[in-house]
Amino acid sequence: MLTRLREDAATTPEQREAEDAWRAEHRDAGVRIAGVRHSFGDLNVLDGIDLEARPGQVIGMVGPSGCGKTTLLELVAGLRDPSDGTISVEGEADAERRLLGCAYMPQRDLLLPWQRAIDNAALALRVAGASRQDARRQVSGHFERLGLGGFEESRPDELSGGMRQRVAFLRTLMAGRPVLLLDEPFASLDAITRAELQGWLAEVLAEDLHTVLLVTHDVEEALYLSDRVLVLTPRPARIAAELEPPEPRASDRAAAVSSPAFTELRQRALRVLGGEAE
Ligand SMILES: Nc1ncnc2c1ncn2[C@@H]1O[C@H](COP(=O)(O)OP(=O)(O)O)[C@@H](O)[C@H]1O
Ligand SMILES: [Mg+2]
Repeated sequence: MLTRLREDAATTPEQREAEDAWRAEHRDAGVRIAGVRHSFGDLNVLDGIDLEARPGQVIGMVGPSGCGKTTLLELVAGLRDPSDGTISVEGEADAERRLLGCAYMPQRDLLLPWQRAIDNAALALRVAGASRQDARRQVSGHFERLGLGGFEESRPDELSGGMRQRVAFLRTLMAGRPVLLLDEPFASLDAITRAELQGWLAEVLAEDLHTVLLVTHDVEEALYLSDRVLVLTPRPARIAAELEPPEPRASDRAAAVSSPAFTELRQRALRVLGGEAE
């Protein structure tokens, strides 16, 4: 997704040198998961997950309901520690330090019901010390683009589920953390809005240096938005397959998802999800 970091993107020696320097400085950036297992009491949920997400990469994760996707994001976010294995975020392995590197968008939107949409979206900026006016100004430009124009002053209970999800998504993005953990961010949207937002997210991710773990139940969404897609087994989750969507990707979403290479990959993902061995 991130052209700046592609091997072939640097054309001049100066550019290459600048990129090498950037890489050296950000050697620990991104997310590293090694040998992670997790159990809740007797319930084995994760059974040996290894993953490296470098800065600027989007890693999609698909898997059956209840297999442990949310648990994995919570572990990365530092909300709990794994029973076994190690996780580091931006080079930090300590749970409290991991939390500082991540903006986590949970499956439930968790908006503050007494706050207006724009103030909910601006929450992280306010926590970081911005004035209300300044925080509002920073987020307001995004409202129109997310199809939320005119709803800035609405309270969450006056918004549809899909709109609340978009406000929550904006809040996550505005947190300005290097790692985004997105748990089914577009799950309650209709197909058209979802396709629009996927296009918007693809643009945002291409512009900005976020490392993203994107959980979704939508294989097409995962393949369209991600640099790599992990297909997980039923609980306890293991990585059943790693898929690399074809490059270069057409910027037009409809064209991208209807290419033969894309269609083949989608079918392969569905076969793996259906339990067929690779
Ligand atoms: N805090 C918890 N305590 C006990 N069991 C949990 C807890 N969180 C999740 N589980 C269980 O772990 C399994 C995986 O849950 P989850 O990670 O939410 O799956 P997914 O997000 O893939 O649908 C489920 O069986 C769920 O009931
Ligand atoms: Mg979940």
